[in-house]
Amino acid sequence: MHVLRTIREVNAWRAKLRAQQKKVGFVPTMGYLHDGHVSLIAEALSRADYVIVSIFVNPLQFGINEDFSVYPRDEARDLQMAQQAGANAVFLPSADEMYPAKPMTSIQVRSVSESLCGASRPGHFDGVAFVVVKLFNIVQPDFACFGMKDAQQVAVIEQLVNDLNIPVEIVRCPIIREKDGLAMSSRNVYLTNEERTQALILSSALREVQHILIEQRQGIPALDIRALAEDMISNQTDAVIDYVEVRHYPSLHPVFADYLIKYDTKDMILLALAVRFGRTRLIDNLLIGSDKGSEIDV
Ligand code: PAJ
Repeated sequence: MHVLRTIREVNAWRAKLRAQQKKVGFVPTMGYLHDGHVSLIAEALSRADYVIVSIFVNPLQFGINEDFSVYPRDEARDLQMAQQAGANAVFLPSADEMYPAKPMTSIQVRSVSESLCGASRPGHFDGVAFVVVKLFNIVQPDFACFGMKDAQQVAVIEQLVNDLNIPVEIVRCPIIREKDGLAMSSRNVYLTNEERTQALILSSALREVQHILIEQRQGIPALDIRALAEDMISNQTDAVIDYVEVRHYPSLHPVFADYLIKYDTKDMILLALAVRFGRTRLIDNLLIGSDKGSEIDV
């Protein structure tokens, strides 16, 4: 596995593969890899000749009071995991390599980045969009894999790539969960044992909604779906709800309160949650009406 630390090294690696007409898949990450990231690498390997993973904790996408300085980092472990997963190269740039000077350009994907996490984390998706465009230009992959754990991030990147005709195919990959249902996240290490137990409410609320939708095939109003998830979380934990929202996907347009949501709806509907357990903010979601979303085993 090639360990590339500079943009020049990535350019040289990429140029060689282009000359050989190889298909290159890309998995951008912020490191502290877990099986969610590994599943993206596996998906990329199944579609490409060569797979490159980037590991970069992007300062631009963190708010001033967020966890940039304490975001978990373990380069040696990440390299081992990427290699075991079968990645052909890892791009590990320093902050100076990515941002030698303060960038003067901004990228804002309107509408889709304004609600949900975009409302609670102002500027977050501008930072994500900026680094993803930068990474796409450096790596020049044929396609890139993103996890539906961050369903809004996928919607933002798809919009961005369409708007700017960026020649990178975006591949949506399903959410990977711990055995007990908790969606894998690098941030799960922040949780105390007590919070870790409480956090199971997220996947159980989504599972319950999915279960009810399977049983009530005639559909359930959006308002009731939202209330069901919200009540489960607030009645069974002392966690602080950031949002519980039902939206069309991938537009993220609001859904009318009386809109009947059916398990096998052709419109894709996202039930998205963001909840704080102590100081840790976790997100999870259920994509209804799709096989490539976040269906939970029942
Ligand atoms: P990071 O949080 O490290 O996630 C990297 C990729 O792994 C994202 O596409 C994310 O959706 C996916 N992922 C995380 N947890 C997952 C899980 N449990 N199941 C499936 N996929 C999962 O997302 C970022 O980094 C950054 O915003 C980035 C796109 C790299 C830009 O800095």
